Amino acid sequence: MSASTRQLSEALTDTAVDAPDGSSILTVTDLALRFGGTKAIDGVSFDVKKGELFSVIGPNGAGKTSIFNCLSGVYRPQEGSIDFLGRSLLGMRPDAIAKFGVARMFQNIELFDNLTVLDNLMLGRHQHLQYGTLAGMLYVGKAKNVELANRRIVEDIIDFLEIEAFRKFPVGMLPYGVKKRVELGRALAMEPKVLLLDEPVAGMNVEETEDMARFILDIRAELDLAMVLVEHDMGLVMDLADRVMVLDFGQRISLGSPDEVQSDPAVIAAYLGEADEGPTLADEIAESKATEDAEEARS
Ligand SMILES: Nc1ncnc2c1ncn2[C@@H]1O[C@H](COP(=O)(O)OP(=O)(O)OP(=O)(O)O)[C@@H](O)[C@H]1O
Ligand SMILES: [Mg+2]
Repeated sequence: MSASTRQLSEALTDTAVDAPDGSSILTVTDLALRFGGTKAIDGVSFDVKKGELFSVIGPNGAGKTSIFNCLSGVYRPQEGSIDFLGRSLLGMRPDAIAKFGVARMFQNIELFDNLTVLDNLMLGRHQHLQYGTLAGMLYVGKAKNVELANRRIVEDIIDFLEIEAFRKFPVGMLPYGVKKRVELGRALAMEPKVLLLDEPVAGMNVEETEDMARFILDIRAELDLAMVLVEHDMGLVMDLADRVMVLDFGQRISLGSPDEVQSDPAVIAAYLGEADEGPTLADEIAESKATEDAEEARS
């Protein structure tokens, strides 16, 4: 960390949520989304509490990304409600939802490959604030100050994510693990009040995964930011999440603490019979349990 670096909590002051601890800030009720005959989401309800790390798991096609797409206004659900900080997100445009405090890290990286790390993060700032407005043109001096303040925030995020060495590199040139970090950085630059992470460690090696887990934990510790984590990496989910929701064919089949979910017969039953399609959730849970037991036995 350079001498001028601020703590993340000093740089990002808009992420704070004015709600009592333990209260729900995001409430999804009876959400339903159909594509023709496919029920991508089939009557799902859940809530996310202030500062909570809430995880959504389930096999491929279970509806996890579809839920994120509804939350961020990309898909319009046919039924149900989504309330965030006392306001309905239904019908709001994606950019308005982002400005209102819902930022997202995508399953497939969505950055501008030709732009540098710095510029991709600056775009995150621009999405957060009003830019290029008449006011901006009339008060050139003020706009310049705002730009400098934004630049400083972006530099703080770059320091926090330990990507200083890549600041001036076009994103397209960067290794996958670094790109994922840049995406996390862009989401942070938007100063969200909830962060949606869609498979943040997919395709990463062990070291990259551990780094990402550390950043998620640090963001949490510094900002007390609520996060929704979609992941297939069961070890990560069971380690990090306060609560876990399990989806199967668009339906919620379980919701509870990591321990409750892992031992829920409905969860275990739902994944039997998929053995010919590679490791099932039950396999993955058994594996992460075995690792945990081995670790416990060692300590
Ligand atoms: N734009 C779309 N058009 C048609 N069907 C869609 C669309 N988006 C999602 N679906 C369908 O909705 C279902 C849920 O998909 P979704 O991408 O939400 O699953 P997922 O849980 O994120 O899966 P994965 O773990 O593979 O990312 C799938 O059957 C998928 O084919
Ligand atoms: Mg998905």
